[in-house]
Amino acid sequence: MGVKKGNSLAVNIGGIRMKNPVMTASGTFGYGAEYSRLIDINKLGAIVTKTITIKPRQGNPVPRLVETPSGIINSIGLQNVGIEVFLREKLPFLRKLKTRVIVSIAGNRMEDYVKLAGILDGEKIDGIELNISCPNVKGGIKSAGRTGAGLFAQDAGISSELVSRVRRATVLPLIVKLSPNVTDISGIAAGVEAAGADAIALVNTFRAMVINVDNRRPVIAGGTGGLSGPAIRPLAVRLVWETVKAVKVPVIGIGGIMNTNDALEFIIAGAGAVSVGTGIFVDPQIPLKIIRGLKEYLSENRLTGIGEIKGALKI
Ligand SMILES: Cc1cc2nc3c(=O)[nH]c(=O)nc-3n(C[C@H](O)[C@H](O)[C@H](O)COP(=O)(O)O)c2cc1C
Repeated sequence: MGVKKGNSLAVNIGGIRMKNPVMTASGTFGYGAEYSRLIDINKLGAIVTKTITIKPRQGNPVPRLVETPSGIINSIGLQNVGIEVFLREKLPFLRKLKTRVIVSIAGNRMEDYVKLAGILDGEKIDGIELNISCPNVKGGIKSAGRTGAGLFAQDAGISSELVSRVRRATVLPLIVKLSPNVTDISGIAAGVEAAGADAIALVNTFRAMVINVDNRRPVIAGGTGGLSGPAIRPLAVRLVWETVKAVKVPVIGIGGIMNTNDALEFIIAGAGAVSVGTGIFVDPQIPLKIIRGLKEYLSENRLTGIGEIKGALKI
């Protein structure tokens, strides 16, 4: 897929050249095919697949989704078909698309990420996203001699060690997806950049809880889940803004993006691209509406390219 010269929305995210900066977020767009009748996928800048693990996973027990004011809490638990079925049954469809295809991967051990990246390295995809920030997987992280209850993305040392090991397993562009559930995002972002990340995506969901006061139980079967949607947007914008200041690689802004204005907030904060997640469930056309809206914004403001407003925050 060539990027047209003079295309004002074209961006380069860590070596992935996209015709526009609008993507779909992992876990909210399946493996693409599910949405092919609802939206012209070829118009998107890129799609990120549901996170794939080595073995298939059934995910967490239900209920694992609950609506909250301006958001949802999910605890899907990385339900997915596993890498074998993905390569055999899902990737052929994705390969035919005229958009960039980024495959999200995860595991419980660093070796899982290394193995998956090695397998994908030989495939015709445009990049790999390391989901080191899913809040809904039990068992915690395991790495050489260390076991923690948290996420890879909650420890600067562990996340950069993971990225440097995966870096050696693939030449594909590597996007690292960070967690908002941290005290200081800058150190973690700088660490994964130094370890070889080509781009950083954030945010994944915020750990959250809803309680049913009648039976006094958490509504989500596993107790907690991850909050997404408009409720988290201002938090995500702040985290993206801080990350942009800490790294040189492009940052993909994610969190509650429902319209062009929301996308612009992230871009003005410094994001090189944006991803729509929960918004897809509300209206699968949202990403395409945002692409049109960004074009209009550029022409109304007499701007020649999206790069002119990237990081243009007056502060
Ligand atoms: C139902 C659901 C499933 C998700 N699954 C994944 C996943 O498999 N991998 C991942 O990296 N993020 C996953 N996410 C997180 C989203 O990609 C995104 O980072 C988050 O929802 C914030 O964006 P949003 O507010 O636009 O939804 C999931 C989110 C939702 C709502």
